[in-house]
Amino acid sequence: MIPQSFIQDLLTRVDIVDVIDRHVSLKKQGANYFACCPFHGEKSASFSVSPSKQFYHCFGCGAHGSAIGFLMEYSGLSYVEAIHELARQIGVEVPEERNARRGDTEKAQSLTDLMGIAARFYREQLKHAEPAIAYLKRRGLTGQIAARFGIGYAPEGWQSLQKAVANYADKSLLEAGLVIENEQGRRYDRFRERIMFPIQDSRGNVIAFGGRILDQGEPKYLNSPETPLFEKGRELYGLFQARQSIRASNTVIVVEGYMDVVALAQHGVPNAVATLGTATTATHIQKLFRHADRVVFCFDGDAAGRKAAWRGLEAALETLNDVKQVAFLFLPDSHDPDTYVREHGADAFTEHVANATPLTEFLLAELAREADLSSAEGRARYAHEAKPLVLRIGAGVLKLQVLKAVAKRCALDERELMEAWGLKAPPAPPAPRRDGEPWRKGKGRREDTDPPAARGPRHQPRPLEASLLRIILDHPAWAARLPVDLIPASSDEGRALIAIIDAVSVGDLGSQSALGTLLEHFRNSPHAATLNRLCAEQTNVIDESVIETVFHDTVHALHAKALDDEFSRLAARAGELTPDEKKRYAQLLQQKRRNPTRQPKVSDS
Ligand code: UTP
Ligand code: MN
Repeated sequence: MIPQSFIQDLLTRVDIVDVIDRHVSLKKQGANYFACCPFHGEKSASFSVSPSKQFYHCFGCGAHGSAIGFLMEYSGLSYVEAIHELARQIGVEVPEERNARRGDTEKAQSLTDLMGIAARFYREQLKHAEPAIAYLKRRGLTGQIAARFGIGYAPEGWQSLQKAVANYADKSLLEAGLVIENEQGRRYDRFRERIMFPIQDSRGNVIAFGGRILDQGEPKYLNSPETPLFEKGRELYGLFQARQSIRASNTVIVVEGYMDVVALAQHGVPNAVATLGTATTATHIQKLFRHADRVVFCFDGDAAGRKAAWRGLEAALETLNDVKQVAFLFLPDSHDPDTYVREHGADAFTEHVANATPLTEFLLAELAREADLSSAEGRARYAHEAKPLVLRIGAGVLKLQVLKAVAKRCALDERELMEAWGLKAPPAPPAPRRDGEPWRKGKGRREDTDPPAARGPRHQPRPLEASLLRIILDHPAWAARLPVDLIPASSDEGRALIAIIDAVSVGDLGSQSALGTLLEHFRNSPHAATLNRLCAEQTNVIDESVIETVFHDTVHALHAKALDDEFSRLAARAGELTPDEKKRYAQLLQQKRRNPTRQPKVSDS
């Protein structure tokens, strides 16, 4: 775990404007910066970045968040990766994790540099390699697409890389997998006379290569070995280039080969990636689901292709949920995506993708290939094979659907099948974690005892705590000025507001935190949904010139309401009040007569 304090500190040290401007060119207008929203197609600039709030927001689609959130959304980084990326940009080290997988970050950096140098060298070599250029042209690629994928050429000769690197004897060359050392300790280039496909991580760093032989020969593709930079089961070829169109289409196509990815992009299907000569892993799937809700595997129709698809299915089961879908597409015999799209074009291919077989259908059909459903024994076997797969499906509703479908094929009803499988009822979703979370370190008492908010129609006018929360999101520093005991915890907004005040009062959240930092603090808390809802809605915040007045009025109304409530409570028990209570009641009554409560007008922005 990366300490919360480090994350807050990091967010105060980076500037979200710089972070976003690296990817989206921003124009200054008044205090803020604007651009066309990178998260939805548009012509007007409704995407705004606020340096004072360290927050971005699109008025068109509601996308919003901190610098961390931006990198996650835009570059598809995980939370931890986004934090590392920001730390790298300002040159600080992320604490802890020193013992983790990545090990020595300094070394990783120099290997990355080395891979970058090699990639540039290979690209440069391609310009002078007539046969290699001719080969790529023959396969239908333009120079433009070759440049987009950074395709290069490893020339003939045993030590060509010597021309590119400072010290050919450096051990990092070996570690990066660029050279091989024989028993006599003599070194030579791993890649010779091959078309070079650089494999990039999600930031665009080259972390490995795949090298294809020109025309015939063995092996057809030579790949980098696993290195500190490169773990095959995690990486996907072409993801760096594809991620924007993946997001735009909400679909990612997974194919088998480097050339498939490049050829699809060449012909207008830019949302494809390839696994790297390995089976699809659960990590791959999780990574892809961060970019899109639909993953379509596109494999050859032969036995090997079906087997690869089955491995993909197994890797996906746990990650599926009721929103994330997986589908399978098998191309007609003797075609791979490369040859198919060259022969039939993008539209035909895209139509196949749209009509791909849903995972459930594929799963049921594959199981049926193995079992004879016309006999009792066959059906029993079918159920036996299906059980472990069905139980692994992550999604609640989907799991039940599949269970029903299996039961039907086994000529059972759902209850009978569940009984046969030793299940009582569909397993409940895991309970949310409750302990040791940073947002619970505050007082947080109301959350423990109060019933959940009633979800009836929204009050008119908006409850005071909701108005206050909006103001606090605009001016988080004012949270310290709020009377926490008077804020009703009966609504989501009220509970979120209380949590913010608590976090500030115990020092978990700096009292001068910008909105971006505040949001990050509550990222995994029960309040995240409420905060994000308000942030997405926040189209036209209360005018700066009156917001302070509105704030005071609202706080005043909160006090008035508390007194009012106290009065009503006492009035309800009028016959049974203690002497002290009677005194208080009289006091309140008098106050009420003097200045009858008036709710201040709170702008509904
Ligand atoms: P294929 O043999 O299907 O090749 O391998 P391909 O992608 O269609 O290549 P072209 O069209 O002949 O150029 C699919 C993938 O399997 C891995 C590579 O990742 C390749 O893209 N592979 C294949 C290897 O790693 N080594 C090999 O020798 C062959
Ligand atoms: Mn091919």
